[in-house]
Amino acid sequence: MSRVTVLKLKEMKAANEKIAMLTAYDYPFASIVDEAGIEIILVGDSLGMVVLGYDSTIPVTLDDTIRHTQAVVRGTKNAMVVADMPFLTYQVSPSQALMNAGRLIQEGGAQAVKLEGGREVANTVHTIVSAGIPVMGHLGLTPQSVHQLGGYKVQGRTEEAAKRLKEDALILQEAGAFSLVLEAVPMELAKEVTEELNIPTIGIGAGPHCDGQVLVLHDLLGVFQKFTPKFVKRYAELGKMAKEAIEEYRKDVKEGKFPTEEHSYR
Ligand code: KIV
Repeated sequence: MSRVTVLKLKEMKAANEKIAMLTAYDYPFASIVDEAGIEIILVGDSLGMVVLGYDSTIPVTLDDTIRHTQAVVRGTKNAMVVADMPFLTYQVSPSQALMNAGRLIQEGGAQAVKLEGGREVANTVHTIVSAGIPVMGHLGLTPQSVHQLGGYKVQGRTEEAAKRLKEDALILQEAGAFSLVLEAVPMELAKEVTEELNIPTIGIGAGPHCDGQVLVLHDLLGVFQKFTPKFVKRYAELGKMAKEAIEEYRKDVKEGKFPTEEHSYR
């Protein structure tokens, strides 16, 4: 079976079929997500927070993302793999952004890249798309700008901010983006943007009216336990289960109950 394409996602929007997207950062989880039928897997720069233990996404490097994208690609057959462009890999100049997007596709094996921002990155989006690399936009709460935004806060609440976000969405579509993540914006605003655009919107903390939804895998599974944003639904408590399993193993080792003969060679 071939991977989900940009065309397929467009058809899904036209047919009102919701798109399910999740993050993954390594081979085992990527295989599970792919086998579960998720259409898009994002190697998000959330990697920095939920896997590498940083306080923000800012320290993630291009080499980190390439390495993790390679692992995700090796674990998947069906999903479209989108690699997130890390901080400062696309803001300096469109030509540098193109070279870096090219590495994510050529070395990482991703089928598309994602980058944050509105009108200020339109030229960059156009340059990357013109080279044949699909680009996903990201508006609303853009975590790489956390210091400018003053924290991880809902965006687009004022009339002026909502107007600007709607304009940015149209500008990104015009620049050639094939899809748009809307993060932490009021659901009515996300609905308006979704209705206005021809390209699919993927919401995270943006209500139910987007064409698709994305969550950070480690939030959904309860693996990342430092904090849980309001918009996350935890579908499992794997962190808790893992701790219980490890405690049981430790106890067995201490009490000489593991290994038994069954786990030993003769
Ligand atoms: O890095 C990430 O995981 C993301 C999603 C939250 C959309 O950008």
